[in-house]
Amino acid sequence: EWLAVSGPRTVLLAAPRSFCAGVERAIEIVDRALAVHGAPVYVRKQIVHNSHVVDALSARGAVFVAELDEVPPHSTVVFSAHGVSPAVRTEAASRGLDVIDATCPLVAKVHAGARRAAARGDTIVLIGHSGHEEVDGTLGEAPERTVLVQSPSDVDGLDVADPTRVTYLAQTTLALDETRDVVERLVRRFPEARGSAAEDICYATTNRQEAVSALAGDADLVLVVGSGNSSNSRRLVEVARRHGTRAHLIDGVRDVRPEWLDGVKVVGLTAGASAPSHLVDEVTAALGGLGPVTVVERRTAEETVTFALPPIPAKEVL
Ligand code: F3S
Repeated sequence: EWLAVSGPRTVLLAAPRSFCAGVERAIEIVDRALAVHGAPVYVRKQIVHNSHVVDALSARGAVFVAELDEVPPHSTVVFSAHGVSPAVRTEAASRGLDVIDATCPLVAKVHAGARRAAARGDTIVLIGHSGHEEVDGTLGEAPERTVLVQSPSDVDGLDVADPTRVTYLAQTTLALDETRDVVERLVRRFPEARGSAAEDICYATTNRQEAVSALAGDADLVLVVGSGNSSNSRRLVEVARRHGTRAHLIDGVRDVRPEWLDGVKVVGLTAGASAPSHLVDEVTAALGGLGPVTVVERRTAEETVTFALPPIPAKEVL
């Protein structure tokens, strides 16, 4: 099968791609916690939505749990990059857990916006995907006054207490173009609504979407490296498809199907913010095994953002 799709190809490599500052920080936090405390270090939910990252940290002694009741009392638990609701913080405190918070500072910023809006007495319209961990966390800041919308048509059905007191917020990893449509509809219905979804969608999401947009039109196929539950990675596939280009999400090189490459001369390649860059290199190498490959990087933005680590105190030895 693979022989039939051999041949020279160009790989258009999107830049920026792969890890963002929030993901780098979250992984580093688990790394340091393992170094300081030794295994096991409990982590609530996947630290970032990537199977390779989770497997690598599990192998070193991180124990990923779905909920805090799986964590033995007085252990250390890391909160994932996606953030948690205040109820989870309260539960951790009541169980006597030592918390190390790997919530991305840009997610924390949206939480702060929710708290400010709630203090003003606004209804909060959260634009995001139901069931995503980040959305669960942000909703939890003011559950009684927050409503979730996922599409422009959801806006029509909204029932708010006071239409002059509406604040909208967005999940950090949404598609910019789709979110713009939702905001347009919101502002038409609630002209006094305040918010800035374009600011809530983080720099890394924005940059990766713009980078894939800049090459999708010139590619016969776009491959996005990322896990199935990674919101920002899935958005990259959708953005590429909106340019009319075939696009697939792959967790790693093993997911590439030979029939996808049939007649394909130019492959656009990128990775979501939670996908390690070595997975991208593996895809390029595999394509190189099918014939000569010319790799051309197309950069649309420089990234210089970094986030400081929180303190990771050593356990008291009794
Ligand atoms: Fe943070 Fe954006 Fe990455 S919210 S974790 S910088 S995708």
